[in-house]
Amino acid sequence: MAGEAETPRRRGFMVVCDGSNGAGKTTLIEALRRHLEQLGYDVVVTREPGGTAIGERIRKLLLDRNLPEMCDLTELMLFGAARAQHLREKILPALEAGKVVLCDRFDSATVAFQQYARGLDPAKVASINALALGGFRPDLYLILDLDPSTGLERVRQRGAALDRLEGEQLAFLARARDGFLQQAKAEPQRYKVLDASLPAEEVASRAVALVAALAEGRRAVHGFGAADT
Ligand SMILES: Nc1ncnc2c1ncn2[C@@H]1O[C@H](COP(=O)(O)OP(=O)(O)OP(=O)(O)O)[C@@H](O)[C@H]1O
Ligand SMILES: [Mg+2]
Repeated sequence: MAGEAETPRRRGFMVVCDGSNGAGKTTLIEALRRHLEQLGYDVVVTREPGGTAIGERIRKLLLDRNLPEMCDLTELMLFGAARAQHLREKILPALEAGKVVLCDRFDSATVAFQQYARGLDPAKVASINALALGGFRPDLYLILDLDPSTGLERVRQRGAALDRLEGEQLAFLARARDGFLQQAKAEPQRYKVLDASLPAEEVASRAVALVAALAEGRRAVHGFGAADT
């Protein structure tokens, strides 16, 4: 049933890319954006936490290595606050306008990191996510699955310093990985796992096939394609 934030007139669709740190989320989103734009879709690329001016300020707080005192519940609620703003200010209007939203991380990351890795009460995580999302669900989650040590090695090779969350122990990242896989297992229609150890081009072509199937399904429902909008 549609929730408070859901709009029955929603025409565009939303794809989330999520998974381990350094798995290739940003790389994949760029490939998908290029592909979809070539097909004539109007694409909005966004990320969590962030995506809006308010969300980006919250992101700075969340990733700040100088704030080790942040308690788990604060972290959870800040992610929720950023998501509430992101959905209402940016995602829903884009979908209503018929655009494709590609989002780097979403509620799937909160479940993987705060619930599975951090060990927060699943009911608390579910209630914050439910408040932020108001019944809304993205159409597809592409879960990039990768051994966490390989992911961190990629991030290091990229030359970036690790942020507060990336600096967590490998065991923490392994629990997060399991959290992503558990979500996919629970909802296999909406969550698709991609082997992120494959070459980036192969990951992208598998993702393109999944997104094409989704777009095709929506055309069947709404009776219009990118070229008609
Ligand atoms: N399939 C792949 N195989 C090997 N290297 C890859 C692959 N995909 C991306 N990379 C490289 O790994 C590094 C991390 O990729 P990317 O930034 O896309 O990952 P990410 O998941 O967005 O990382 P982060 O969690 O830090 O945001 C980059 O240098 C990228 O070029
Ligand atoms: Mg990235």
